[in-house]
Amino acid sequence: MTEKNFYITTPIYYPSGKLHIGSAYTTIACDVLARYKRLMGYDVFYLTGLDEHGQKIQQKAEEAGITPQAYVDSMAVGVKELWELLDISYDKFIRTTDDYHEKVVADVFERLLAQDDIYLGEYSGWYSVSDEEFFTESQLEEVFRDESGKVIGGIAPSGHEVEWVSEESYFLRLGKYADRLVEFFHAHPDFIQPDGRMNEIIKNFIEPGLEDLAVSRTSFTWGVKVPSNPKHVVYVWIDALLNYATALGYGQDADANFEKFWNNGTVFHMVGKDILRFHSIYWPIMLMMLDMKLPDRLIAHGWFVMKDGKMSKSKGNVVYPEILVERFGLDPLRYYLMRSLPVGSDGTFTPEDYVGRINYELANDLGNLLNRTVAMINKYFDGQVPIYKENVTEFDADLAAVVAENIAIYHKQMDAVDYPRALEAVWNIISRTNKYIDETAPWVLAKDEAKRDELAAVMAHLVASLRVVAHLIQPFMMTTSNAIMEQLGLGTDFDLENLDLAELPTGLTVVAKGTPIFPRLDMEEEIAYIKEQMEANKPAIEKEWEPEEVELKLNRKEIKFDDFDKVEIRVAEVKEVSKVEGSDKLLQFRLDAGDGEDRQILSGIAKYYPNEQELVGKKVQIVANLKPRKMMGRISQGMILSAEYGNQLTLLTVDQNVPNGSLIG
Ligand code: ME8
Ligand code: MG
Repeated sequence: MTEKNFYITTPIYYPSGKLHIGSAYTTIACDVLARYKRLMGYDVFYLTGLDEHGQKIQQKAEEAGITPQAYVDSMAVGVKELWELLDISYDKFIRTTDDYHEKVVADVFERLLAQDDIYLGEYSGWYSVSDEEFFTESQLEEVFRDESGKVIGGIAPSGHEVEWVSEESYFLRLGKYADRLVEFFHAHPDFIQPDGRMNEIIKNFIEPGLEDLAVSRTSFTWGVKVPSNPKHVVYVWIDALLNYATALGYGQDADANFEKFWNNGTVFHMVGKDILRFHSIYWPIMLMMLDMKLPDRLIAHGWFVMKDGKMSKSKGNVVYPEILVERFGLDPLRYYLMRSLPVGSDGTFTPEDYVGRINYELANDLGNLLNRTVAMINKYFDGQVPIYKENVTEFDADLAAVVAENIAIYHKQMDAVDYPRALEAVWNIISRTNKYIDETAPWVLAKDEAKRDELAAVMAHLVASLRVVAHLIQPFMMTTSNAIMEQLGLGTDFDLENLDLAELPTGLTVVAKGTPIFPRLDMEEEIAYIKEQMEANKPAIEKEWEPEEVELKLNRKEIKFDDFDKVEIRVAEVKEVSKVEGSDKLLQFRLDAGDGEDRQILSGIAKYYPNEQELVGKKVQIVANLKPRKMMGRISQGMILSAEYGNQLTLLTVDQNVPNGSLIG
């Protein structure tokens, strides 16, 4: 069975506050996959929703002075509005307070109880309400003790406080299924992506011995009641994980979608790394207990963090998607989020980076290519796109080869759900096409009537290449993709499966005057705007205690955050490098740190770089606000960062795509 049915799910979010760009990231990432698969001819079911039960939600409702149901009802409205703003193409929005879902959760609990996969016991241990997660003492990041040394509290790895819970509880027999789970992992080595996470799960959670999991609570009431013992509510994670099945009709009369998308489809779950443990251990074991097929893939992405750590309201560093969309439009947000979180690691949101990518990659690279193309076709061919012919100019073959190669890379990376690399492939096409304009110099060809065929071929190649680009970015930036197609006189029907440069329709007419798809932004003004908005989210009264403040417990000389914040580290590109006469230590660099004029830095690293010219073009990290100093009579305006190990030294470089001047922190 390999039917082209594809099921993709986001985590269901806690509606315990306004959603920030973190949840927006996962939801857009799933949306991109859903749209890509649809364009590849799949029948897609995209699920998202809300996790509305549990102690955390009950507490939030109490704080707000309303019932939990009224609280989640109002939050759900806001979340749906956000997904509409972000143009999320979900097929279903599940809420765990939906009747059909609650009924199946209760049924499943009773079934597992009847087959002895759940049993009654007593639970004592630490609980983080924020994470809705149990911890043993050894799993805590930090413990607090009283004078006698007794542990009286602690901090979960997420940074949230834990409380002591001691109550009668039902338990799920995870231990019994540990071997089967490991067998499954080994039989499906790419079940968890990125690679490596599976081994972490085995090493950290399964090898030390998988303990049975407490799956009910008695100290609050907001949840699905256990039918045979209603003083217990089902643990919110058991309730939540089942959403992936109940949303398709599992356990209900109408389960055609379950047959189609679960039993006869490919099942992908996308989650943040914070909740991988639930999805890689508890969920597969629950499915085994229920004799259900296991998912095909679990994609765990990293976090978007801020320059000063995890997003936290009291730091004034929370970014809400609404603000960015309102100011810059939707496509830059979708592009930025998908382009800048590397697979498998965390990514930093900075206003500099945000505005920089819009200006350089969207307005400059892509926007200009479209503008120039439309303008030239209007000027040289009265808006009529010439017929595409291969190998007319000497540059056509290489352009075609680069396009074909990068289409293939794009598909490979989309299959691997590596969006930064998929987009990089698209930008390779864009750069190559911009270079093609420089190489063919149409303004020169236009002066020579004998070169008319060449000029025509160049125009057709530009349109063909932009058509390819518009297709490839369609899952990411729908508006931009449609606008490119429309400006080129192409319709907005997309076929990603059979995409080919040479397949340019004939008889196209470009628009009379192209409107820029991305306006150029004033960097400083826009960076300041985003910063202001972040600051405005800072609550008036700071909380007395913030988990982030106690994280520094390594035994070394501490500096205040403010001290660190004074250091301005930026990305700079090496323009020139030379040996300094009379010194065997120093190299003299000329760098572009994005601040308008080049700067000179002297660095005592000559012996590590005998072939210093290899550094030209590299992007390095510099301390940009160091007071200028003189060395060997020459001025040095900053310092280049390097790592030392053994008797070696390497300059710290960053990805070529990061714009010069980007702030590092
Ligand atoms: O965990 N960067 O809900 P939740 C990237 N209800 N992604 C982020 C992020 C950030 N800074 N912050 C949040 C829950 N996320 C449970 C899930 S599923 C059966 C139940 C994303 O509201 C990321 O996907 O705490 C993370 O896993 C999810 O939001 C957590 O959302
Ligand atoms: Mg969470």
